[in-house]
Amino acid sequence: MSNRAYNFNAGPAALPLEVLQKAQEQFIDYEGSGMSLMEMSHRGAIYEGVHKQAEQLLRELLGIPDNYKVLFVQGGASTQFAMVPMNLLQPGKVASYVSTGSWATKAIQEAKLFGETAIAASSEADKFMRIPSADELNIAPDSAYLHLTSNETIEGTQWAQYPDTGSVPLVADMSSDILCRPLNISQFGLIYAGAQKNLGPSGVTIVIIREDLIGTPSMPVPTMLRYSTHAKNDSLYNTPPTFAIYMTNLVLQWVKAQGGAAAVEKINKEKAKLLYDAIDGSGGFYRGCAEKGSRSIMNVTFRLGSEELEKLFVKESEAQGFVGLKGHRSVGGLRASIYNAVPLDSVKALVDFMGDFQRRNG
Ligand SMILES: Cc1ncc(COP(=O)(O)O)c(C=O)c1O
Repeated sequence: MSNRAYNFNAGPAALPLEVLQKAQEQFIDYEGSGMSLMEMSHRGAIYEGVHKQAEQLLRELLGIPDNYKVLFVQGGASTQFAMVPMNLLQPGKVASYVSTGSWATKAIQEAKLFGETAIAASSEADKFMRIPSADELNIAPDSAYLHLTSNETIEGTQWAQYPDTGSVPLVADMSSDILCRPLNISQFGLIYAGAQKNLGPSGVTIVIIREDLIGTPSMPVPTMLRYSTHAKNDSLYNTPPTFAIYMTNLVLQWVKAQGGAAAVEKINKEKAKLLYDAIDGSGGFYRGCAEKGSRSIMNVTFRLGSEELEKLFVKESEAQGFVGLKGHRSVGGLRASIYNAVPLDSVKALVDFMGDFQRRNG
């Protein structure tokens, strides 16, 4: 299909063409039922099959052990910023956070509404251009949990390895890198992610939570904001976002067909290397923002010599069919988001464009 844009949007982001085509094919008459999946009851057997398959595939692809629940909730990852402390923070305990950038900062601000917070490590002094190392972490012994942001979408940094937090449950916001590589789920107490980058369209948020953390919150928490409500009801307490879960299921089938998390990681690393090599090999024309050891394989952030040149880069790239290369408005610069569904060919086309742009403006 030649009129597909080279889509580098940060989220909602590129979806696999095969997934969009399958959804189109099934849109009006879902498997001979005479109606769209969107027109069906979420209590009916057909939708329940989709719902269960999405959970099963996520379990299979991420190797989620039986003592973890997989929940489909709404309100985006931003609602998880509040749900985590509301549900996990106990009296006499502190909510510990690693402060790595824009999204971690939002999570911390929200936690402050519910109790005492502590910063176990921060890279703010380095403008959030790096991920703190394991030996910088100072986890308060009375921590209810330690929260980290596995991939800072705006700054373009990513944890390469997760810290061992001992008996303190590790909580991760994986909105922008879930399923970009294999995971050892047992390292975590809770993982959450908005679907709209690596898993599907916006509208559904995935929560993977160890069962022993699901207990009764110590503060009054509305029914819809309790993990126990969704866990007890297989994420069918109220009407779930059926279309978003259906699309997520298709994306998960696509990931499985690619060979699973290890296979997509290999391609992701190849795509990231192409871009970082282009940046590093440009003799300083392009400059990577994140420190090398903290670079994200999902969001590649870089700058040019001046804001004028960056504006020209965006303008010319758009004219050539590239979308989403402008950096986040809070930090400026340029950003290429290369989630699982961004084809290798799009990245190759971008590298070619970057070379050409440099020849004309360098
Ligand atoms: C790392 C991270 N956390 C949280 C969010 C907020 O997600 P939502 O818009 O689903 O609330 C985003 C959105 O881009 C993100 O990238």
